[in-house]
Amino acid sequence: MCERSSVAKWAGMMVLAMAMTAAVQAQQPAAEADAAAAELKRGRLLYIQCRACHELKAGEPHKVGPNLHGIMDRKVAAAQGFAYSAALKGASLVWNRETFDKWLEKPSAVVPGNSMAFAGIASPKDRAALIAYIAAESK
Ligand code: HEC
Repeated sequence: MCERSSVAKWAGMMVLAMAMTAAVQAQQPAAEADAAAAELKRGRLLYIQCRACHELKAGEPHKVGPNLHGIMDRKVAAAQGFAYSAALKGASLVWNRETFDKWLEKPSAVVPGNSMAFAGIASPKDRAALIAYIAAESK
């Protein structure tokens, strides 16, 4: 009797655990979408410090810095019609999330002698948000 009731209790707990897992899983895609949207929003705010020097959309002009349209997975210093420094032209790297992250942390450490007057962004989270925004907006 005692044993049967503990089996029933265990089964009940299993059902409850399964139901809770299902409920959490159902919420996950929505939570992920919210987090992605929040990250893009943060990235857009952070991009204010780049916008003075860089446009992102096709056809927009170069400013002090090159238009960053199509920058992801592209070779460094490849925007048509922009006068890059010799240092950047001589660098051999491709812009992806990893190289972009290092560049945003400290441009002068990635390509010494480049002419981008920007000290860097210390927070890894902020850099990730900024890269997510640029990747989405520069397509
Ligand atoms: C004061 C102007 C200025 C600001 C602010 C600035 N940049 Fe730049 N950026 C430049 C210049 C100039 C270059 C070209 C450097 C060279 O030729 O050495 C450059 C180059 C780059 C490149 C390489 C482009 C390529 O075609 O390889 C990337 C990527 C970049 N900047 C991203 C950013 C981001 C993101 C921000 C904001 C956090 C930012 N920059 C802020 C002026 C600026």
